[in-house]
Amino acid sequence: MSAPLLRARGLTRDYRLPAGQVKHGLVDVDLDVEAGETVAVIGESGSGKSTLARLLLALDRPTRGRVEFEGQPVDARLRALRAGTGIVLQDSYASLDSRFRVRATIGEPLRALRVPGDHRRLVAEVLQRVGLEAEHAECYPHELSGGQRQRVAIARAVVHRPRLLIGDEPTSALDVTVRAAIVALLRELNATLGLAVVLVSHDLGLVQHLAGRVVVMHDGRIVETGPTASVLGDPQHAYTRRLVAAVPRLPARSTDAGL
Ligand SMILES: Nc1ncnc2c1ncn2[C@@H]1O[C@H](COP(=O)(O)OP(=O)(O)O)[C@@H](O)[C@H]1O
Ligand SMILES: [Mg+2]
Repeated sequence: MSAPLLRARGLTRDYRLPAGQVKHGLVDVDLDVEAGETVAVIGESGSGKSTLARLLLALDRPTRGRVEFEGQPVDARLRALRAGTGIVLQDSYASLDSRFRVRATIGEPLRALRVPGDHRRLVAEVLQRVGLEAEHAECYPHELSGGQRQRVAIARAVVHRPRLLIGDEPTSALDVTVRAAIVALLRELNATLGLAVVLVSHDLGLVQHLAGRVVVMHDGRIVETGPTASVLGDPQHAYTRRLVAAVPRLPARSTDAGL
């Protein structure tokens, strides 16, 4: 049997606080992400979502447990991990370098990973794929809107054709209509590129438009996981019920055409 794209087992991260106490950021998390799958990680602020995202991409080291990408430990295969993944963060101002034009920002992973081919053409292609114009290549981040900047961040995260994209609250700094457009873009990238997407978000309304499966986190642990429709439609865990109840009314998936 082939290994999943990404596999975490017993993933645990303790943070040592200055006063000497230990904060359990993540506790014994098991997670598999299959190729081409869309998974949402939901939970309140402080539930461990960003800690999980960082550990999955080896941007941080676990206290215990392991992560494998395509069957190999991530630490030993950092280069393959970088080539096979992309990340999009909440704050596009912080993640895009204000000194560089969009063309240089998007082309950087191609240079860093020594991707063969015509980088100018690859950048032009990915701009179009994320819904930007060719002229945007010459812009600086401050010349773009928040939604356009997040499209640049996504373009940069997928330009090298990774198999996995992780978004950590990629829409939470955006207006509601722009949020929906960005989630629609992620869904399209999943469909057209076969890209697996892990979306960390506390916006259940959007999660439901993207993810086939939901993972619910609480106090550093996964408390519930399953197909999105069943977890959000018929939550089993009391914490998930509270999360779902806190959203006024989830729009039906079929009404998303206008978003
Ligand atoms: N660098 C850190 N040092 C100490 N505690 C941290 C650090 N990063 C996260 N934490 C703590 O770990 C828990 C999980 O944080 P985080 O993964 O950022 O949650 P989320 O992304 O769901 O808001 C929180 O209690 C947070 O305060
Ligand atoms: Mg977070």
